Amino acid sequence: MIRVAVIDNEDAARSMMERLLRQEGFQVTTFRAGKPFLASMRQTPFDLVFIDLELPDIEGLEVLQLVKQAHGKTEAIITGKASVDTVVEATRKGAFHYLAKPCRWDDIILMVRRAREKIESKDENRRPDRETDSTCLTPGFVGASKAMQDIFALIKKLALVNCNVLIEAETGTGKQLAARAIHELSPRRDNPFVYFNCGGFNEELICSELFGHEKGSFTGAAGMKIGLLESAAGGTVLLDEIGEMPLSMQIKLLHVLQERQVLRVGGTKPIDLDVRIIAATNRNLKQSIRRGLFREDLYYRLNVVGIQLPRLRERPEDIPPLISHFIKKFNSSFGKKVRHISPQALELLMAYSFPGNVRELENIIQRSVALADGDTLEIEDLSAKFQETVGGDPGGESLFSLEAVERQHIKKVLQKTAYNKKLASHILKIPRTTLWRKMKKYGLAETEDKK
Ligand SMILES: Nc1ncnc2c1ncn2[C@@H]1O[C@H](COP(=O)(O)OP(=O)(O)OP(=O)(O)O)[C@@H](O)[C@H]1O
Ligand SMILES: [Mg+2]
Repeated sequence: MIRVAVIDNEDAARSMMERLLRQEGFQVTTFRAGKPFLASMRQTPFDLVFIDLELPDIEGLEVLQLVKQAHGKTEAIITGKASVDTVVEATRKGAFHYLAKPCRWDDIILMVRRAREKIESKDENRRPDRETDSTCLTPGFVGASKAMQDIFALIKKLALVNCNVLIEAETGTGKQLAARAIHELSPRRDNPFVYFNCGGFNEELICSELFGHEKGSFTGAAGMKIGLLESAAGGTVLLDEIGEMPLSMQIKLLHVLQERQVLRVGGTKPIDLDVRIIAATNRNLKQSIRRGLFREDLYYRLNVVGIQLPRLRERPEDIPPLISHFIKKFNSSFGKKVRHISPQALELLMAYSFPGNVRELENIIQRSVALADGDTLEIEDLSAKFQETVGGDPGGESLFSLEAVERQHIKKVLQKTAYNKKLASHILKIPRTTLWRKMKKYGLAETEDKK
């Protein structure tokens, strides 16, 4: 049975939680203060704890920290009145969710059910056959590198906190996938996910799309129209290419975000909004702020939590799992039976700098699978243009990332020394452990195993 603790000095809140949690089948213990709870926890840990932020004897956040330090597996939900900063801090300290007081019955039920799923799935997750799934955050969102695994962990956490998120990354790195994952892992997942591209529209159009309009509010507005923000009720809105939004429009958006209310164009009655806003951009917004193209106040409003997705060339470990993911995907769309990629073709891809990031890799595999004859993708299947770009000598015309050059050079030295790591590290003038780390990073350790 799942053991739950409720720590709250308000009698009414405590007894309501106790009743509800018993009804949901949990074993519940309640505490009026933090210290008695901590003493009890030292005897037997709890699976789930509700910690009120304002306790008579010790700060709620401190209790949270002590709980997480002592038993990382215990899930914690923070309750009370919190500023955004406090919520963010609680999430960083490992809280599973935050419930604003007075807590609503439905919200608590939703949260405890999700917490139960999470606690129960932890045991299953330890099963080895689940391990391969850990490279996917949501179906089709692949990431094996440390950088992506850290991002997956962050997304899982912030999915449960209803704060604005800003995703800043280069084109093709998966911004839209990340935004969808946040929505799909959040309690909002059964409500709409609405996409809006802020680029290429004038202010009037953006206003009418986002906020909607009343009948006859401008020439051509024949009927009333519900805006995207309103239509996403209970769900998530992705404002893509936020950096392209005209300045005059940014102030209006800021206002909506501050008030959490929207006024249809030509309307007089503000409508309450219940949406989570995720904004994405491939521009450097800090630079846009300096150039006077983006409002600083809007930036901070959107960037409660920021996600920076790394370029593909900064995480070559993701290339092999992405390739197998795309091979499977395009096998089924083209009715092909590709199973492998030849070591030479893989090597070529591993050395490439991917200015178009994952989208570019996806296009390359798509084309190759479409044209492949057998069950293995060969160098010849990669397009001629691509072979030319990456096949050249690092010293020649083509431009390579520093990492690609480093990989090539380490490989050359390893081959010349017949994979003698002692000798190779001596020639490269780096410690053997560093060499080993780099070999793993660049997938050169596998090459050695195959020998
Ligand atoms: N980690 C990933 N796993 C699987 N597919 C990915 C991953 N990252 C990106 N992709 C694929 O690459 C393509 C581009 O991804 P997405 O549209 O999310 O990128 P983006 O950052 O929004 O790009 P842009 O800035 O150009 O809009 C999509 O087809 C997506 O499915
Ligand atoms: Mg995009």
